[in-house]
Amino acid sequence: MFRLTRITVAALAMLCVAPLGPITHAQQPVTLTVRADRPGVRIDPMFYGLMTEEINFSYDGGLYAELIRNRTFRDDAASPAHWSVVQDGGARATIALAQDPVPGTALTTALALNALSASSTQRAGIANEGYWGIPVKPDTTYRVSFWAKAAEGFRGTVTASIESNDGRMTWASRAAGRPTGAWKKFETTLKTGRLTPSTANRFVLSTTTPGTVSFSMVSLFPPTYKNRPNGNRVDLMELLAGMKPAFLRFPGGNYLEGPNYENRFNWKATIGPIEQRPTHMSPWRYRSSDGLGLLEFLEWTEDLHMEPILALYAGLHIDNGANIITGDALKPHVQDALDEIEYVTGSTSTTWGARRAKDGHPQPFPLRYVEIGNEDWLNMGTASYDARFTMFYDAIKAKYPSLKIISTMRTQDRTFVHTRKPDLLDDHFYTTIPTALAQAHLYDEYSRSATKVFVGEWATNNPRVGDTPMMAFALGDAAFLTGLERNADVAIMNCYAPLLVNVNPGGRQWAVNLIGYDALNSFGSPSYYVQRMFSNNRGDVVLPATIDPLPKLTLEQIPEAPQPAPAPGRAGAPAGRGRGPTGPFDAIYVSATREDSTQDVILKLVNIQATAQPLRIDLQGVSRVDSKASGEMITGELGAINTVAAPRKVVPTAVAISNAAPMFVYDMPPHSVSVIRLKTR
Ligand code: AHR
Repeated sequence: MFRLTRITVAALAMLCVAPLGPITHAQQPVTLTVRADRPGVRIDPMFYGLMTEEINFSYDGGLYAELIRNRTFRDDAASPAHWSVVQDGGARATIALAQDPVPGTALTTALALNALSASSTQRAGIANEGYWGIPVKPDTTYRVSFWAKAAEGFRGTVTASIESNDGRMTWASRAAGRPTGAWKKFETTLKTGRLTPSTANRFVLSTTTPGTVSFSMVSLFPPTYKNRPNGNRVDLMELLAGMKPAFLRFPGGNYLEGPNYENRFNWKATIGPIEQRPTHMSPWRYRSSDGLGLLEFLEWTEDLHMEPILALYAGLHIDNGANIITGDALKPHVQDALDEIEYVTGSTSTTWGARRAKDGHPQPFPLRYVEIGNEDWLNMGTASYDARFTMFYDAIKAKYPSLKIISTMRTQDRTFVHTRKPDLLDDHFYTTIPTALAQAHLYDEYSRSATKVFVGEWATNNPRVGDTPMMAFALGDAAFLTGLERNADVAIMNCYAPLLVNVNPGGRQWAVNLIGYDALNSFGSPSYYVQRMFSNNRGDVVLPATIDPLPKLTLEQIPEAPQPAPAPGRAGAPAGRGRGPTGPFDAIYVSATREDSTQDVILKLVNIQATAQPLRIDLQGVSRVDSKASGEMITGELGAINTVAAPRKVVPTAVAISNAAPMFVYDMPPHSVSVIRLKTR
């Protein structure tokens, strides 16, 4: 109070840091007291991570850099989906699927090109449309590979090209091989020159010689992140790297379970050369190439310095309990899980460690956490989960006693009995904004002796409208995260879901996802930037922080996710507030932490109000505060989103403070999230 009395209201006004963005009618100042002299719970370096699965064309048509859609011709048994015939200059040709396996591989299906008439001016071929186009960039080298076999009498060559959809522009082209009567793999590169980036392009394999050529496993890769063969898209990896995630929870999600037993995530069918991977149906109604398989997940963790959180298939599928695998029938899958752990962590003297080395990665990967299944409270899984969990638990702990084992039962399933005590419970939340705000206090009263929590999926995403979150959702996310940080002793790790969405029509199965993209461009949503701001400024220890007086909001004052107009004759999306907490709600959410290495005090400040909020920051227990402080702040219209066309409409702006002190005032802009670092040494 002593210091407060020395600061007059006028002086306070002068001290106010002018934030960017509009400030509406200001509220009365409130005081945030931070006790740097009373450090609280520690925040695990694993606190912020990523959750991923094949959904919304996250890998195929997304992160996995392959550009050919339906490269093994298995997407549709009846027709060569995403392929078309090329008949230039009067050439005549047909294409047809054929069951024509490539010996020694998992390739079963071929596309046969029958060039009935072709000549040097009459090109016949097959064209692939890619995942909503083939992205063409200037001065870029693309790697081409395909398997081909000629029918009796064909004496020609096959040319690979990347060209505009109308065939008028050829961006790169090269003779790629002369098929013979036996299946053979051909490889070449295509290099583009000066051009304007575009997506309305196709990939063509063609001939100017009559006859029949069959193709299998046709592949086209642009440069990948860290130049990994069979690797990931550079721009998306860079967006993910920007979040500095500590872990990757994979392979799901529902993708782990699969739509049924046959299409579970069977990790052994996702390793080795890509022609050895049979592919499978994802639960999201499209076929997964499995090009991004177990080893690629692990290499992704390696590239971004993350730890894997490996989810193990545990007998449940997304089929409403039609075929839950239990008892003796589950035993081979428990062994599969042990094999999988050995593939990840085993030395090269083990069976599966040796297999990993053969696949190209002799070095084992770190692994501390495995999760048994996914959302086993759904799909009639609850009744059998304890027995299934116990089988995995016993087998894993016997062989890998230091591994921590996560149960998919949520903290709200309080009556659930675990015969074996899990190391963590996995909570999932997809919420409205009011629920997200209320849940900022969810773990405040959680018993400190109860099983700790991994919040393995969460998002403010309700009502589920749009590809990616609008600014209003980012406010809910930020408020919720302040609560997780404050309770980092019980909620020790968390990850937003879903992570990725291809925003082309038909690309999305799940509305509201963190990062959007098309074939050429990508963008982070406001929620992405909130994640990035928080994760980049995590801090290592929580500092007690109180706000006095703490302004409150009624349910009606809570920002609502603006609704798009309903289509004619259709009902609108459900109201944004939905059922749930009725308030009153805190108007301000705060987390204060300190970083060990720098001794910086980090403040995360969320203003839910439609008005600016002067915040008198009273930092107690520090000997000095550098007058220069920096940070980031994000605000915007509640309905504002980023898109491929306007990828940076809502992004954080820099905050530069020149008058920081043990007590100073920061103006929180309306509907804003700020992260500020105060230097204390
Ligand atoms: O994140 C989308 C889905 O939501 C996940 O696959 C599933 O675990 C959850 O129900």
